Amino acid sequence: MIGRLNHVAIVVPDLAAAALMYETALGATVTPPKALPEHGVTTVFVELPNTKIELLHPLGDDSTIQKFLDNNPSGGMHHVCYEVEDIHAAIAHLVGQGARVLGDGQPKPGAHGLPVVFLHPKDFCGTLVELEEVKAA
Ligand code: CO
Repeated sequence: MIGRLNHVAIVVPDLAAAALMYETALGATVTPPKALPEHGVTTVFVELPNTKIELLHPLGDDSTIQKFLDNNPSGGMHHVCYEVEDIHAAIAHLVGQGARVLGDGQPKPGAHGLPVVFLHPKDFCGTLVELEEVKAA
């Protein structure tokens, strides 16, 4: 059911420093920071030939990733995002398998404006999983 790895997300304490480190030390192409107030994050994408790394920093007072940063002050891996072709079919399948979809269980527009849902980390080996609907080109 899942397709390509769309991105791996890493929460960072200093977005500019993290972007610069990826750009200079690792020689990667990074996008300018983008504020997503509705998600409580600012993002920078590191563009790799086969996938992306999403650098995340809390935005606003009630950001859901602030607690993550409090628990992991130097940052850390936050979630992996897999592509699916039909997010509603994927949700129905997962719920049938006993997996838990976070929030109200309905897709919301994600960082790329495409529908996303998050799955409970306890159901997936301690890893927060994001599914993003990406139609086949
Ligand atoms: Co993501």
